[in-house]
Amino acid sequence: MTTLPPSPLPRFPADFLWGVSTSAQQIEGAVDEDGRGRTTWDAFAAEPGRIRDGSDALVATDHYHRYPEDVALLKELGAGAYRFSVAWARVLPEGAGAVNKAGLDFYDRLVDELCAAGVRPVPTLFHWDTPLALEERGGWLRRDTARRFAEYADVVAARLGDRVDRWITLNEPAELTLLGYGLGEHAPGKRLLFDALPAAHHQLLGHGLAVQALRARGADSIGIANSHGPTWAASGSGPDKSAADFYDLLLNRLFADPLLLGRYPDGIAEMLPGPVADDLDVISQRLDWYGVNYYQPTLVGAPDGDLPSDFAGIEVPPDMPFSVREIEGYPRTAFGWPVVPDALTELLTSFRERYGDRLPPVVITENGCSYDGLDDQERITYIDGHLRALHRAMEAGVDVRGYFVWSLMDNFEWAEGNAQRFGLVHIDYETLARTPKASFHWLRDALRGQRA
Ligand code: FCB
Repeated sequence: MTTLPPSPLPRFPADFLWGVSTSAQQIEGAVDEDGRGRTTWDAFAAEPGRIRDGSDALVATDHYHRYPEDVALLKELGAGAYRFSVAWARVLPEGAGAVNKAGLDFYDRLVDELCAAGVRPVPTLFHWDTPLALEERGGWLRRDTARRFAEYADVVAARLGDRVDRWITLNEPAELTLLGYGLGEHAPGKRLLFDALPAAHHQLLGHGLAVQALRARGADSIGIANSHGPTWAASGSGPDKSAADFYDLLLNRLFADPLLLGRYPDGIAEMLPGPVADDLDVISQRLDWYGVNYYQPTLVGAPDGDLPSDFAGIEVPPDMPFSVREIEGYPRTAFGWPVVPDALTELLTSFRERYGDRLPPVVITENGCSYDGLDDQERITYIDGHLRALHRAMEAGVDVRGYFVWSLMDNFEWAEGNAQRFGLVHIDYETLARTPKASFHWLRDALRGQRA
């Protein structure tokens, strides 16, 4: 079944971190077990019509019970690291207050299993699954949630910090802000448009406070996983270029500037609540590395009522000052996302230009694609192409220390449900059987080649 790529991959540094990623809500299931509290995604998925294929994440891939099998797969793959997320509501069912020991015990077992398999655990503390109890009090629109997040980070670090040396605070605050609070396509399903901005600021503040909490527990390798991608203007016209700049600001600069430069892009700070200048000191604390989740570039033009305007399948309201256009001339994944490996090189080299020495070493914390079938040659082509593009960025001087494939296995792809399959391992949702795909075998051989 395995097809060899056209030529061996270029050689990456010997200490390069090779990993795969998942997240709690997308794989764990067991939502009512061992005292776990409810999350925004539990509630959102239960609302009729929210999930495209009508699925939910009540069982997901049943990783909560099958984690030994999944860790064995990681070992077979030869992964050096595994990025998973800790479900806040398993640890603190109400988001704050009483700690649920049984919930922490699960991550303790998982980390032990990973260490025994020689796979480095890389936990993300928050991957979109806000405890419902906190959301009911305002969630990330409320400043207090940032403080609660730091308290939670402290609880997790106290328990796992003896075996975990690499931490990720947040996953993609941009998506939670835009899709969750801005457009209502993700949990918590709010459609606040630009009034969603406080959710961005409070997540960033939560990140900064969590960095302090982790460091106080001795952590010295802390990053964040932000989604970024080049933004291309639909034409050279002034309105299209301004629209693309605006989109770049929303997706890239709104999150990277405060973290790396200690300031928001012009005009943004005035729109945010709280003592923003003080908060920026907390937000911009030194990071040990910067995680980038990369999937695709975006082509953006001025708003145009005549053109279909959507973002990842989501209709963009007409009152947005930009419209997202189709990128023609590239292969597409099953999700319809254009496959543009060169845009990863472009993204990283342009980040290096924009942020200079303020950009810490980069880790690609997610990259991957959705395709159906076990003989997933397209996924092999995708990963192979993106690794070559990554290597070109490194040759051009960008300091990249690791690469994580999204995802180890097919999983609950948020508003798409189980329909989009991103895994190296296939999940049969009837039997929950795990079957490595062609891409799994290819990556295993490629990693062996890197180690040889
Ligand atoms: C990212 C998310 C991840 C997964 C991939 C496909 O935006 O972080 O959970 O859904 O997209």
